[in-house]
Amino acid sequence: MKFKDKVFIITGATSGMGRAIALEFATEGASLMLNGRDVTRGNEITEQIRSEGGIANFFAGDICDESVNRSLVEETLQQYGKIDGIVTNAGKLGLGNVTDIDSDKWHQTFQTNVHSVYYLMKYALPEMQKSGSGTVLVNASIAAFKSFPNHPAYCASKAAAVALAKQAATDYGPEIRVNAICPGPVDTPFLHDSAIAFSDPAKAVDEAKDATLMKRLGQPSDVAKLAVFLASDDASWITGSAYRIDGGILSS
Ligand SMILES: NC(=O)c1ccc[n+]([C@@H]2O[C@H](COP(=O)([O-])OP(=O)(O)OC[C@H]3O[C@@H](n4cnc5c(N)ncnc54)[C@H](OP(=O)(O)O)[C@@H]3O)[C@@H](O)[C@H]2O)c1
Repeated sequence: MKFKDKVFIITGATSGMGRAIALEFATEGASLMLNGRDVTRGNEITEQIRSEGGIANFFAGDICDESVNRSLVEETLQQYGKIDGIVTNAGKLGLGNVTDIDSDKWHQTFQTNVHSVYYLMKYALPEMQKSGSGTVLVNASIAAFKSFPNHPAYCASKAAAVALAKQAATDYGPEIRVNAICPGPVDTPFLHDSAIAFSDPAKAVDEAKDATLMKRLGQPSDVAKLAVFLASDDASWITGSAYRIDGGILSS
């Protein structure tokens, strides 16, 4: 098991990729502190992991709030006594072009996709420094590199998230590794919500699938397996990287 006695915080673990990452990390023996706002789904994933012999707790809260991030770290220390890694995975779409988007929605998108990453790093990195090692994974997007119609806040915030991961790798290495994951179209509720930006959402999802070289949407478990690799000692020489996992869509 790659994560025996290792403690990870995973945000946005109540759905999609965060949920899949939680399940894969638990299988690898990790002790998990899971976050999301939906208590019912949070309790459900926590109970599933426990029923399969894993170790997990759920901390409900809106990750846009700095104090929630501080409490998330404090609760993790209280439960497990240390932090070996964080996966900042919660994300927001914030659709609308530059002239139409409500400025509150713009700021909320940056709060979720960038500021929350900064907040969790701010409170978790010192704990990893105490133990002399750690790993940070930022779930960004290929939207950091490619434009999508009506996604300005999303594209700009995901580019900022990648830049933040690369920068943090500079300040906190060599003890702490920081990497970004940049998924293409992954079959989660989020993808189908993003398709609303296109005139024919169902067609847009089909076209995204066809545009991949693998001719399929990604599954949350595809991304979870990359997350396991990057957070594990197998990736001990990888830091400051942005890993595309997109079925080849950006190479087509
Ligand atoms: N699906 C794709 O095609 C795709 C592609 C590239 C990148 N991504 C990125 O991948 C990440 C995961 O997305 P997904 O596709 O797995 O979406 P998803 O199934 O909709 O899950 C999103 C998760 O984020 C959580 N979340 C959102 N805002 C939050 C907040 N303010 N505080 C706490 N938790 C919050 C949600 O939890 P609650 O509902 O419980 O609050 C949920 O667990 C996101 O960062 C997204 O931008 C997705």
